[in-house]
Amino acid sequence: MKIAIPRERRPHEQRVAATPDTVKRFVQLGVEVSVETGAGENAAILDGAYIEAGATVHATRAETFAGADVILKVQRPRTSTDGGADGLADYPDGSILVALHNPFGDPIGVEHYAAKNIISFALEFLPRISRAQSMDVLSSQANLAGYKAVVDGAAEYGHAIPMMMTAAGRINPAKVFVMGAGVAGLQAIATARRIGAVVSATDVRMAAKEEVESLGASFVMVEPDADETGQTEGGYAKEMSDDYKRRQAELVAAHIATQDIVITTALIPGRPAPVLVTDEMVASMRSGSVIVDLAVEQGGNVTKSVGGEIVTTENGVVIMGHYNLPSRLAGDASALYARNLYNFVELMIDKETSDLAIDWEDEIIAGSCLTRDGKIVHPALLPKDEAPADAPSSAVAEPAPEVSIRSAAAEADAAAETPKPDPSKSTEEGA
Ligand code: NAI
Repeated sequence: MKIAIPRERRPHEQRVAATPDTVKRFVQLGVEVSVETGAGENAAILDGAYIEAGATVHATRAETFAGADVILKVQRPRTSTDGGADGLADYPDGSILVALHNPFGDPIGVEHYAAKNIISFALEFLPRISRAQSMDVLSSQANLAGYKAVVDGAAEYGHAIPMMMTAAGRINPAKVFVMGAGVAGLQAIATARRIGAVVSATDVRMAAKEEVESLGASFVMVEPDADETGQTEGGYAKEMSDDYKRRQAELVAAHIATQDIVITTALIPGRPAPVLVTDEMVASMRSGSVIVDLAVEQGGNVTKSVGGEIVTTENGVVIMGHYNLPSRLAGDASALYARNLYNFVELMIDKETSDLAIDWEDEIIAGSCLTRDGKIVHPALLPKDEAPADAPSSAVAEPAPEVSIRSAAAEADAAAETPKPDPSKSTEEGA
């Protein structure tokens, strides 16, 4: 069995899908590993480290992929939907591709995998069950993003974060407000607390209140609609009622005007990110305040954020819209991502023979497989009447019942009245 690791080619992507540590582990399982030259360079991993770990390093993607059974990537390959060259050209027929595929955002890309007879697994679709926790790339990467958002915001903020008593007077602690208390938000809260900020947070999921408070932050809460928990069975946020959204906007408007750093992380799977910070709210903030919009790639939580840019508004508020925050910590992000991937791929390897042995009934395998035997097989990507009744559960495949996945993607496009630059659109050739 052979595993191949190409260099990532999409812009804003510095991570790599394997580290010398995971290469060593694969080699110990009796698996051959080939790496494209320079694959780890942006994460400060040099070719020599992969060779020392037991991999072979090749000059081109085609040579790296020759004879490969499994290809590990961070981001999905470019297909003809991205324009330009076909990033799938070198993939061996029937090979397995494991990556972040953004299947809701790029359903046509998934069709290309099927047409090319690639067996694809989307790490976004891994069921969030305890057995899959060690494979959960959404959590490992969101954790780093939450941390980095605070560090970036603090660096841009022209004041100190903690309270300081000096002979020349007292500096008050910065007030940090975190919107969306999922994995990234909770890490942002913990980081901001660690550096001495006064932290508050909000979320639509009532369950988040206890977690926020246990980290020493206050919870800014809108009373829920009757019998509403704000979350689906899988633990994800629901699209809330118009009345709830209006009440949430009113509460946030009053709170945000007093904040120094605002970090927005709110997402709803299969839908555009909810707008939480309007132009009026930004206008109410003090000059020198900073907003970090982590949801910018999903349309943004802040109306004024611009993808890939740091903008300063007329009233002096700095809005940071960096793409791909985990990639800005490429070393740690790659190490965690690669380890998640190792744990996933290990499931598919027979330890006696070192060959592929995939249990298609396994909830983790079935829940994340997008294409197989030249067909799209994931129920979340099939029209409702074609999805099997006993479809595997997937934590992410929970769009609101009235919205099909395809129309959710179209809705996301339509919602972007002023389209933000798409980091996935590259003019560079390749995977
Ligand atoms: P996410 O990345 O999908 O969303 C981020 C946060 O934004 C969520 O907390 C969501 O409730 C919140 N949000 C959405 N709309 C909002 C709005 N209008 N206003 C304010 N907040 C809003 O979420 P993430 O981080 O992936 O976590 C989702 C859930 O999954 C959580 O319940 C988390 O505890 C759970 N989880 C479970 C794991 C496991 O069992 N293995 C692993 C990681 C997370």
